[in-house]
Amino acid sequence: MMIKSDICMLMLVVMTMVEGRRYPRKNRNKDKEQAQRDEAEPVCELEVACRGEKNIPITLPIRGAKGPQGKNGQKGEPGDAGIPGIPGREGRSTPPIIRVAFFVGLQENQGPVKENSDLLFDKVITNVGNVFNPDTGRFTATHNGTYQFNVVVAAQGRQRAAVNLVRNGEMIATVWAESIPYWASASNTAILKLKGGDQVWLVLLSRAPYIHGYMYSTFSGHLLFPDKK
Ligand SMILES: *[C@@H]1O[C@H](CO)[C@@H](O)[C@H](O)[C@H]1NC(C)=O
Repeated sequence: MMIKSDICMLMLVVMTMVEGRRYPRKNRNKDKEQAQRDEAEPVCELEVACRGEKNIPITLPIRGAKGPQGKNGQKGEPGDAGIPGIPGREGRSTPPIIRVAFFVGLQENQGPVKENSDLLFDKVITNVGNVFNPDTGRFTATHNGTYQFNVVVAAQGRQRAAVNLVRNGEMIATVWAESIPYWASASNTAILKLKGGDQVWLVLLSRAPYIHGYMYSTFSGHLLFPDKK
């Protein structure tokens, strides 16, 4: 980062870094302040103020914020370091992490169905970002980006089970499992570009209408990466 000013005499660089709680609490007022700070995301602030007559170029190496604290208390990876004296280019800094991931399954067998029917899942194991709605069986994209979906379908007892993976009602992929005569599992993976608000779900087909539960049949997905801004 480089800042030139015709009138520079005094430089003031203030860096403030507010981090998550580190020390045991001492009193109630401090507890409150600390709690409010804890609510907010960690914040870094940089202020440069110049006054005076001389033309003073200022060069600062800039480091990205630390990533979020890991589960066991380890620090996240530091952001990409800028090159001293060279203005930061777009895309150099670490993009914010968007947390979108779900994993659901069938505990009960479903079907047979007479018509193609939206498949509902009775077991939600993971739903980061609350992106999967168990009432509709649908995933809703939170951001424009590229997402991955995995579908596993099982059939048992000479049954057939097949689903379509659909995006906003449009058929994208099919998974077909047929039990002759024992166990059958089939899977498919789709990588889809979605816009925020787009929906993805599974439709159980009447041609192969009986899908096995007991967590043999599952549906999962996550954001691979958001679109470039
Ligand atoms: C998402 O994509 C749509 C269509 O390409 C575009 O109109 C919209 O501005 C994008 N939204 C964001 C937040 O980038």
